[in-house]
Amino acid sequence: MAAIAVSLATSLTSAVVPSSLTSFVFNKLNSAPCLRITFSVSRFSSYRGGGKLMAHSLVRATLGLTQPADIDVPKIALSAKEIDVAEWKGDILAVGVTEKDMTKDDSKRFENSLLKNLDAKLGGHLSEASSEEDFTGKPGQSLVLRVPGHGAKRIGLIGLGKSATNAYAFRNFGEAIAAAAKNAQASNVGIVLASTESTSNESKLNIASAIASGTVLGTYEDNRYKSDSKKPVLKSVDILGFGTGPELDKKLKYAEDVSSAVIFGKELVNSPANVLTPAVLAEEATKIASTYSDVFSATILNAEQCKELKMGSYLGVAAASDNPPHFIHLCYKPPSGPIKAKLALVGKGLTFDSGGYNIKTGPGCSIELMKFDMGGSAAVLGAAKAIGQVKPPGVEVHFIVAACENMISGTGMRPGDIVTASNGKTIEVNNTDAEGRLTLADALIYACNQGAEKIIDLATLTGACVVALGPSIAGVFTPSDELANEVFSAAEASGEKLWRMPLEESYWESMKSGVADMVNTGGRPGGAITAALFLKQFVDEKVQWMHIDIAGPVWNEKKRTATGFGIQTLVEWVRQHSS
Ligand code: BES
Ligand code: MN
Ligand code: ZN
Repeated sequence: MAAIAVSLATSLTSAVVPSSLTSFVFNKLNSAPCLRITFSVSRFSSYRGGGKLMAHSLVRATLGLTQPADIDVPKIALSAKEIDVAEWKGDILAVGVTEKDMTKDDSKRFENSLLKNLDAKLGGHLSEASSEEDFTGKPGQSLVLRVPGHGAKRIGLIGLGKSATNAYAFRNFGEAIAAAAKNAQASNVGIVLASTESTSNESKLNIASAIASGTVLGTYEDNRYKSDSKKPVLKSVDILGFGTGPELDKKLKYAEDVSSAVIFGKELVNSPANVLTPAVLAEEATKIASTYSDVFSATILNAEQCKELKMGSYLGVAAASDNPPHFIHLCYKPPSGPIKAKLALVGKGLTFDSGGYNIKTGPGCSIELMKFDMGGSAAVLGAAKAIGQVKPPGVEVHFIVAACENMISGTGMRPGDIVTASNGKTIEVNNTDAEGRLTLADALIYACNQGAEKIIDLATLTGACVVALGPSIAGVFTPSDELANEVFSAAEASGEKLWRMPLEESYWESMKSGVADMVNTGGRPGGAITAALFLKQFVDEKVQWMHIDIAGPVWNEKKRTATGFGIQTLVEWVRQHSS
């Protein structure tokens, strides 16, 4: 039913892909009896590396005739200002208050000096209203008052809880401000914290950046698939009381770059599988490479090329689909200077996971959500986009995705089939629904062959991890304490929640096969752990490796939308390695 992509490429003779590899992808229109498939042809893109031109014309599948609307993500101007908050002019002045900031004296007036001053200007209106509305500064609480006749049209008190200490709390604060701005149709907001005396300059930078990204991300709505969409009104955000200067400006620019990458990642995950096929995911990756062509090169391998690399495990998963697989590899090199660390980010890129012959059935299997099974690849490509903008020196970073679809057909893998990965290891596929690890096996081998010293893979790998950690915490598996420390500090700075899980070697027992080197599933107990142990089989011992299972946090069930989880932590981790 879908269009066929035929690839004529330099033939590969060795197992290592030369970085000069070019692939030309052509489209053929495949007429189906009841569906017309249309396609768009993208521009020529130029790439670094000898000024080579690569022709890319990839298929946009339009099953159901759906195309995402080409909506520009509105830009919000972020600026740090040092002015008296009482003098600030605009639509909403949002004040972040802890429960302690809300304590009042015997005459029911604020003790906090900033609140006391504002309250005095407002003739006691603020303290009165907060008492009447029982606003105590709990997280998630907000109180917005219209204050006619003042510089600010409204004053908003936003609860930070007992004490706001981490990036997670400040990102939520930013999101609450965005919600208040939406309600009030505000086009500009001023943001201030009631108390900042005890915060160091460094944490002030981090707090300002967390608030800014929360505000930007909270304002964004993905309306590309709605026929009628309203534009957000928020245009500018003034950060008050955090000082001014080049350091803070740089931090806000960084927050803006990373936020735009998170939005990109969310859009990839929100896109349904009839629109976002492996070919389209590959096209998005090559777009990143051509947009930041000063620092990126792109290699996209088709099925034939993957076959030459002996990626039997990955190709086994892809075999049932009419949408052909695309193996994506972006390589970032800094504009100048020596390279001190070689890193790789590998993402699970199942644009849809039906389960295959072990089809996902029954309530709670969430088959209708399995477009999000490329959330790992969205995190990796989102990180690539941010890194293309930030251009950190001193690091080489490989972004790798073995993109495909897990479907059912006569050409597909059967339960019990034995597939052979590109390192020669054989796998008895006792469950076709444990497909992510099969694709990651070949992707991890490929990452090791790039000479990466440290590899992080992200994957919506197991329902078991969601059972263990719930919907908002990702599971981390790594034999390396050093890598764990690095990533946990990056996650802390980003406000993303991770929890380290054990790589219990004794559980490998359940992964043994009578006929092959291993099976791909070991039963329900410890399902997230055995999945991680499986991946470990495909990573060189000398490489520091981490697996992050993002099956829970990839999706926000309440908002029915993607979260962009992982991007901020990955970019922060890469930045840590930069000189
Ligand atoms: N993509 C799923 C994992 C998943 C399930 C993510 C639910 C988010 C929500 C993965 O490919 C899968 O199907 N895993 C199986 C493994 C099992 C067959 C050992 C699972 O978790 O049920
Ligand atoms: Mn599956
Ligand atoms: Zn899956």
